[in-house]
Amino acid sequence: MRRREFLYDGLAGACTLAFAKPSAPKAISSVDSRIEILIGESLGTISPDIYGHFTENLGGVVYDGMWVGENSKVPNIDGIRMKLIEEMRKIKAPVVRYPGGCFADSYDWRDGIGPADKRPRRTNFWSDGEESGAPTSHKYDPNQFGTNEFVHFCKLIGAQPYLAANVRSLSAGEFYRWVEYCNSPAGATTLADIRAAAGYVEPFNVRFWGVGNESWGCGGDFTPQEYAIEFRRFTTWVPHYGQRLFFIASGPNVDDWNWTRGFFEEILRKGRSPLRSIYGIALHHYAWNVSRGRTQDWVQGKGDALKFDAVEWYELLREGERMESLINGHWHIMGEADPSHAVKLIVDEWGPWYRPGSEVTPGDQLEQVPTLRDAVFSGMTLDIFNRHPEKVAMANCAQLINCLNSLYLAHEDKFCVTPVGHVFAMYAAHQGGQAVRTMFSAPTISYDRDGKPAAFWGLQGSASLHDKDLVLTVVNPAIRDPREAEIVIRDARIKVVAGTTLTHPDIHAHNTFERKEEVSPQTKPLPVSSGTLTHTFPPASVSSLVLTLA
Ligand code: AHR
Repeated sequence: MRRREFLYDGLAGACTLAFAKPSAPKAISSVDSRIEILIGESLGTISPDIYGHFTENLGGVVYDGMWVGENSKVPNIDGIRMKLIEEMRKIKAPVVRYPGGCFADSYDWRDGIGPADKRPRRTNFWSDGEESGAPTSHKYDPNQFGTNEFVHFCKLIGAQPYLAANVRSLSAGEFYRWVEYCNSPAGATTLADIRAAAGYVEPFNVRFWGVGNESWGCGGDFTPQEYAIEFRRFTTWVPHYGQRLFFIASGPNVDDWNWTRGFFEEILRKGRSPLRSIYGIALHHYAWNVSRGRTQDWVQGKGDALKFDAVEWYELLREGERMESLINGHWHIMGEADPSHAVKLIVDEWGPWYRPGSEVTPGDQLEQVPTLRDAVFSGMTLDIFNRHPEKVAMANCAQLINCLNSLYLAHEDKFCVTPVGHVFAMYAAHQGGQAVRTMFSAPTISYDRDGKPAAFWGLQGSASLHDKDLVLTVVNPAIRDPREAEIVIRDARIKVVAGTTLTHPDIHAHNTFERKEEVSPQTKPLPVSSGTLTHTFPPASVSSLVLTLA
């Protein structure tokens, strides 16, 4: 018996098709689903930046993950892990956020510039959570990776840097000076000279600036009103050196509607002009509670990254799919203050968060091993962003490497792409496309949630148009049942299709340093008949279809 069947059968009647007639025998092959793509109904342009990343100076993200040092035996470009650079080029990484997270509101950017051997060692924000055996560089920041190295990394991979400023423990003046260091013209200021002395004569022209992080919590424990006042002060009359600055306000935690409403009310207290300077408000949502409603406790509610049953598979996806209602809910509230919606949503932290225990490198705080479940979760989340292009201007998966929902795992000379990394590669083709309305109809999944019936949708996804090419991504979350779908393009015929699928017979499957290809996408041409396509989406899968239209 395959592992998946075993799990299913252990659920005492879970996962029955909601619409199946009780006595009807299951057909050997039958179309049970339909995907209709309305290419004439554009939802807006998909911002490439929703495929963004997040790198915090936390655990093994920076030291070991990104930065190995120029003298390392690990192949590197100017101290940055070469394999990481190569992989990120492949996925067309558009933007990377740094240095935090909570770390940002303890960070003095001046510690990370100037000659490497003169940079101070500082206590890392996360040091108290580090195990006694954790590498020293995780507890005490050696500051070998700072602004120059980060911006250089972004240039090497072709991404925009997104810097998060310290609002809790540095002044607004220090924020202006960081902008000056990054963006003032060559030779114009003392800070530009210091930048040039490090080899960076030309300005970095950093456009994305986060004003604090989680200011309702680790970023200062502000009320939304208090934070709005800080935000106004930090962003008023910042020198911009000809570079438009896109300020991103620290936004709500999950469904804290009060934060969004309170922030905008206070921002507007002195008139509407501050609205012009806010590019976006940052929403954070982690899926962590798989307790089936038993607890809201941050520790007790979490599950294991690798060991989970079928109910936990669906529970995690349910937590993750809240993203769509969070986007709609906060957008609605933002519209009360900003009816023309000048301000966008920036989801700059998202992903599943499990309890400790799956770290591939002991001492890598918050490191977890992504499985097929996280690939399905990530595909589902990216599809949600694709379906709301007018609302979501940027999103940053937490976090890039050796952390939560990582695309890559690395330790010393070992490196692998996780199933999440493969999903980002499969979805890259959506970037910059016209999102088009797409309707999915598929049997609902029913499962037993500790004696109570629970349901989850059968198929979901998104589609985008790129001239004559249509990119369709689809998630089948059912752990057992394939879905055979008729794919219909309203007002067009399909000429050619290439299909890429990521799945595995074991829902717990993941990649390791030893078995790097355990979960890897398979691409093949798909047969088109009379301009239409019928395709089977395997259970527990993420698919990406590129359709050339006639
Ligand atoms: O991503 C880990 C942490 O989660 C970040 O530092 C913080 O912003 C969030 O609470």
